[in-house]
Amino acid sequence: MTSRKILVTSALPYANGEIHLGHLLGYIQTDIWVRFQKMMGNECHYVCGDDAHGTAIMLKADELDITPEVLIKNMSNKHQIDFQSFSIDFSQYHSTHSQENKDISTNIYNKLNVAGFIKTRMVSQAFDPLKQMFLPDRFIKGDCPKCGSNEQYGDNCEVCGATYSSIELKNAKSVISGATPITKDSEHYFFDLPQFEVQLKEWTKAGHLQDAIINKLSEWFEEGLQQWDISRDAPYFGFQIPAVEGKYFYVWLDAPIGYMASFKKLCDEQNIDFNEYFNKDSNTELYHFIGKDIIYFHALFWPAMLIGSNYRTPSAIFAHGFLTINGKKMSKSRGTFIQARTYLNYLNPEYLRYYYAYKLSSKIDDIDLNLIDFKQRINSDLVGKVVNIASRSAGFIVNKFNKTLSSYTTESKFYQEFFDCGDIIAKHYEARNYNQAMRVIIKLANKANQYIDKHKPWQLIKKQNKQTQVHDVTSLAINLFRVLMTYLKPVLPIMAKQVEEFLNIDELHWKDLKHPLIKHQINTFKPLMLRIEDDQIDRIIEASK
Ligand code: MSP
Ligand code: ZN
Repeated sequence: MTSRKILVTSALPYANGEIHLGHLLGYIQTDIWVRFQKMMGNECHYVCGDDAHGTAIMLKADELDITPEVLIKNMSNKHQIDFQSFSIDFSQYHSTHSQENKDISTNIYNKLNVAGFIKTRMVSQAFDPLKQMFLPDRFIKGDCPKCGSNEQYGDNCEVCGATYSSIELKNAKSVISGATPITKDSEHYFFDLPQFEVQLKEWTKAGHLQDAIINKLSEWFEEGLQQWDISRDAPYFGFQIPAVEGKYFYVWLDAPIGYMASFKKLCDEQNIDFNEYFNKDSNTELYHFIGKDIIYFHALFWPAMLIGSNYRTPSAIFAHGFLTINGKKMSKSRGTFIQARTYLNYLNPEYLRYYYAYKLSSKIDDIDLNLIDFKQRINSDLVGKVVNIASRSAGFIVNKFNKTLSSYTTESKFYQEFFDCGDIIAKHYEARNYNQAMRVIIKLANKANQYIDKHKPWQLIKKQNKQTQVHDVTSLAINLFRVLMTYLKPVLPIMAKQVEEFLNIDELHWKDLKHPLIKHQINTFKPLMLRIEDDQIDRIIEASK
């Protein structure tokens, strides 16, 4: 089998906020998939980086009285520490505010412009006369023109659901300066999306998208594609539009190009052929993992930009749902707006990786982190079932049999059954149905425990003539544990490492499982994972309020 060449991305987190458990759903989903691909022997690169541009970041830096450059540098460091702590193993973590991204964005824009895909027209917008800047809808508040509720944002009313333009808002105020916005005209640059309608419709049908996304897209096609406003007036933190003074690329123009920029940096560092991955008739695979809120950008604008500038399009967009906690949107007042760092102060990151895997499928339904279920799942599945297989068998091997596994042959069928499940588990991983992979694995863990229960080595060991049987039973159990930990390795890389040390082997490899470990010396067993206690969860909630 020839190995596939795969480039994988996760959505680039904004540089104005910390990573929380909602973000982590996507990064953990992607990381598991990438680790699985590597275990299968494929060449798989995983790139990401901070999304560093835009008004929000500029204003946040203002507020902190630092430059945007300092802000995004600090935030990028924090993000990377959080990701590392959750074992998210990027091949490259870069930034949209980079030379690579400036070069590629400029280049793509120029190609689109030359090909006639960029249009200009005048736009009237709310303008803050004190701060001397145009105001995005999020930075205007006032009374809803429909129901009159106060303190509503410039684009929609959270009370009655009305949508409107910020110019219609009553008693409007700039959130930044408190000034009353005036209306001002300015020339804007547009990406002419409607010119790509035929190609996008074709692309949509060609098997790159989940069903739910295809349905969304048909709705958007029916409503009719609109030209996309890709320029913002100074002051703005971003890249200047080539040869246009005082106008910048809207953050979402150079954000997906940031995927390419991050990969470019990796290619330069590791001598990988960038063009092989991005030229029009590339044989490599390109996957974007994203949350469902940013489908429009990835399934319409992005492929259109790539087509228009003569690059390949993605092999697939993999969207996931949103995280809820205890059945509700994450919320500060409920203590469920949990940052990665807060979680790490109390709990093992691999608990969360497992729980997300146990819940994630290829669908875009929202995923609930129920904290009671979370605790029970970890304690019962991981500690009570998987780790238990090793912890109740290792002692015999170490203390009674000179740390050496037997050359058992008696139950080879049972081992074979565990081995045979590898194919279906691999299929589930490949299809991003981790939930199903976890169910198969836990079912096997149950069987392994039942096997130990049936033979009761702790009783047999007392009988002189049963020593060989104890040796065989516990050796087989350790081998079954090895199989299961290999299957779990994409989800639990840290525990897998400890198990490699315990089993005294190089690496848990899928392709090595055909042969059990026989007459093999292992190391002393150290506890691999502790149970979750109630108070750990309570303390996380308290600390998040
Ligand atoms: N910067 C853009 C993405 C640009 S990609 C070229 C962005 N950033 S974000 O920080 O708001 O979100 C980063 C990722 O986290 C997105 O995929 C988003 O969907 C995801 N999530 C943010 N909150 C989430 C939940 N509560 N649940 C699941 N995913 C969530 O969007
Ligand atoms: Zn209203």
